[in-house]
Amino acid sequence: MPAHSADEQLLARALELARQGIGLASPNPYVGAVIADAHGNVLGAGTYTYAAVKHAEILAIEAAGKKARGATLYINLEPHAHQGRTPPCTDALIAAGVHRVVACMPDPNPKVSGLGFEKLRAAGVHVEVGRLEEPARRLNEAFARYIRHATPLVTLKVAMTLDGKIAPAPADRARDIPSAGYSGQWITGEIARAHVHELRHENDALLVGIGTVLADNPLLTDRSGRARRRPLLRVILDSHLRLPLESRLVKSVAAQRDEDVLVFHTSGDEAKKSQLEQLGVRIERIELEKVSALARDGRPDLPAVLRRLAQLEITSVMIEGGATINSTALAANVVDKVFLYYAPKILGDPSAIPFAAGDELHAAQVQHTHLHRFGEDFAVEGYLRDPYEE
Ligand SMILES: NC(=O)c1ccc[n+]([C@@H]2O[C@H](COP(=O)([O-])OP(=O)(O)OC[C@H]3O[C@@H](n4cnc5c(N)ncnc54)[C@H](OP(=O)(O)O)[C@@H]3O)[C@@H](O)[C@H]2O)c1
Repeated sequence: MPAHSADEQLLARALELARQGIGLASPNPYVGAVIADAHGNVLGAGTYTYAAVKHAEILAIEAAGKKARGATLYINLEPHAHQGRTPPCTDALIAAGVHRVVACMPDPNPKVSGLGFEKLRAAGVHVEVGRLEEPARRLNEAFARYIRHATPLVTLKVAMTLDGKIAPAPADRARDIPSAGYSGQWITGEIARAHVHELRHENDALLVGIGTVLADNPLLTDRSGRARRRPLLRVILDSHLRLPLESRLVKSVAAQRDEDVLVFHTSGDEAKKSQLEQLGVRIERIELEKVSALARDGRPDLPAVLRRLAQLEITSVMIEGGATINSTALAANVVDKVFLYYAPKILGDPSAIPFAAGDELHAAQVQHTHLHRFGEDFAVEGYLRDPYEE
């Protein structure tokens, strides 16, 4: 096998290991590492998880033991050269005698980017950077956005019909008219809905408006079945604390005591606030929406909400509707990427609920699109901006 493709295979293995950290590494990046000898034999490997503290390359060095001397490290992200929760990994690599480092990309943190490679090169280690860079950048895009801008990566997820409707008109829905192309609560089929749980698993928080809670009484949990270090934070924008005490959201938080429901409000009575808090719901008052505050009737300011979530070490947020929040999020220019699911249905009812309602939106270009198929449904994934932009 040519050396080039052997390197790529081992780097792909490191990326695969990094992916095993999804749900377990945030607020730090996903990192996987492989140490191999000159024949491509794997001597040690590791995946970074926040709880285990040790970095992927340290786990790989420990597994390789003395055999690490003269070996190559394959890693998706630049080893760090500074003292953080752990000592610099570059020092450990140099001390272990690793002879060559093949990495997909530099650290997205501008404060340390490039320093790790510099230190390794200064110690005589051969460093190669840039192979499999595209998938490596995608994997750590939330970390990049968070570390560069102190705000989470925001994904707007919507499920809709081919004519862009996210729910039937409230009257049709009350009568549950199947001919409206809408059965029960769902627009898309089972396969697409299972995929939504994969996306939930990749995110630190979900965000909806109180309108969705009142209409759908959703649970908003991660039901992917995979382990996560912190429960998915369920964020509700609810200016006047209309969240019903008997909603499934409140009941679930009261039962689990995870305190994983966080409500941002701007007013609302004290008695309701303390009732919700007694049931384990976290409540925070947030500054008012700044842009056309009059039109929004004193609602929480979405960019301020996102800054607050970043302070809570939330690196990624998925907005799951409904029409009003979708519109506010796009108008406020907080959306980084979209995941738009389409069911092959046409509602054709002008009073059905559209994808976005409320603000006048500027046309937005969705770039780097990928198409996904989920049985009869499909989805468009794409970017409104580069999460790595300065
Ligand atoms: N197909 C899908 O993917 C999908 C997903 C979700 C929902 N839906 C559907 O969407 C419909 C609900 O739509 P909706 O527009 O009523 O729900 P929404 O967008 O979830 O909630 C809107 C409400 O959130 C509150 N809010 C607080 N801060 C806000 C802010 N900064 N910007 C905007 N709103 C803010 C406002 O009520 P206050 O002024 O009282 O705070 C507002 O009326 C339901 O029929 C549901 O089934 C569909």
